[in-house]
Amino acid sequence: MAFQLPDARAGLSAALTADATDPLANLRTQFVIADPSIVYFDGNSLGRMPAMTAEHLHHVIHTEWADGLIRGWGRGWYEAPARVGDKIAQLIGAAPGQVIACDSTSVNLYKCVMAALHARPGRTQIVSDALNFPSDLYIMQGAIAQFGHRHTLQLVHSRDHEITVDLHDLEALITKETALVSLSHVTFKSGFIYDMQRITAKAHEVGALVIWDLSHSVGAVPMLLDAWNVDMVIGCGYKYLNGGPGAPAFLYINKHIQDELESPIWGWFGQKAPFAFDLAYAPAAGIGRFLAGTPPMLSLSALERSVDMIVDVGIDAIRAKSMLITEYMIQLYDAHLAPLGFSLGSPRDATIRGSHVSIRHPLGYQINQALIAEQNVIPDFREPDNLRLGLSPLTTSYAEIWHGVDRIRDTVVRGLHLKYPATRKAVT
Ligand SMILES: Cc1ncc(COP(=O)(O)O)c(C=O)c1O
Repeated sequence: MAFQLPDARAGLSAALTADATDPLANLRTQFVIADPSIVYFDGNSLGRMPAMTAEHLHHVIHTEWADGLIRGWGRGWYEAPARVGDKIAQLIGAAPGQVIACDSTSVNLYKCVMAALHARPGRTQIVSDALNFPSDLYIMQGAIAQFGHRHTLQLVHSRDHEITVDLHDLEALITKETALVSLSHVTFKSGFIYDMQRITAKAHEVGALVIWDLSHSVGAVPMLLDAWNVDMVIGCGYKYLNGGPGAPAFLYINKHIQDELESPIWGWFGQKAPFAFDLAYAPAAGIGRFLAGTPPMLSLSALERSVDMIVDVGIDAIRAKSMLITEYMIQLYDAHLAPLGFSLGSPRDATIRGSHVSIRHPLGYQINQALIAEQNVIPDFREPDNLRLGLSPLTTSYAEIWHGVDRIRDTVVRGLHLKYPATRKAVT
């Protein structure tokens, strides 16, 4: 039977039929689903654990570390950042030699922002948006401080309550004064996908550099970094790449500019001959200069295996399912949640929507608490009123989406959320 998007009014049986005909349904069995009654809508924040990860790490610990000891560096560890990077490159339209898996997303952004500001002396502006992940903005603010407050951070604002940005508004900010345009490819609250090609071209027209944060797109949304001549990207290993909590992140530097750019962290792994132990630093040729120190081999090994799995599935098949599951979520929202005072916090147009759907409610903070405590549903709350529902194409089933929406509806209809505090806790 050919796959058909389930009818949102048809109930659980239609969702189960969709699962039975979904070409990617089997992938869910390759992950640990410890408690099948949990509806997990947070794979965009911490991806589920692939079943083979435990087995693989067991091997790495016992064979590569315990038996191999320091010889591991000569048996593939040393090359791991570039090797894993080349695998991630296949998901983002990049040829080999331009991606390394290393450090955290934040540290990689810092390295790229500092490199960009050095490479564009005399320019006074960084352009970003008010939808960006705040930590990215903090890093840009920190870089501005380190450059002696010579730059200003220009933020374009949304005209539709933080769902999208009008690209004309953004383009109007990009001028000959712009050193750098730095944005999230998919925004963390609404899931809006920027037109990366168009904004990159606009930045280049005025001589600026671009850095895209792929944290919410890598492994879910395809892109063509080389063909679009993107300068730099950074991205996260623990969301749709399923590398595990705090997994190494990655960065891409276009081969055309690698040798012009300088990392602000002059560590030995980025030195041209680390084992010569020269007292003076000289950068490695190419992408390697953006490494700083010793890679975390256990977590890098876990990431490598999950990336292998994703590359095997193929990013286009993943994107096709992502568009269908987010569409189904929105149809269920229209049928069951919109009448209860929710509004949609994500684009309706699937071509500009990533793999999470935000639904907004004035009591969203309390609803989120009730869902976790009483309904076995794990979403994320994002201020001021977003329940962010992350749908991970490898692991989220149609039935899971149906149950999730049903439990959200049930929570609000029965007023379960009303007993939870509206006062924000420092850590949620
Ligand atoms: C869009 C985006 N950028 C950057 C980060 C920061 O990542 P890290 O804390 O791993 O450095 C996150 C974390 O969730 C994120 O969502």
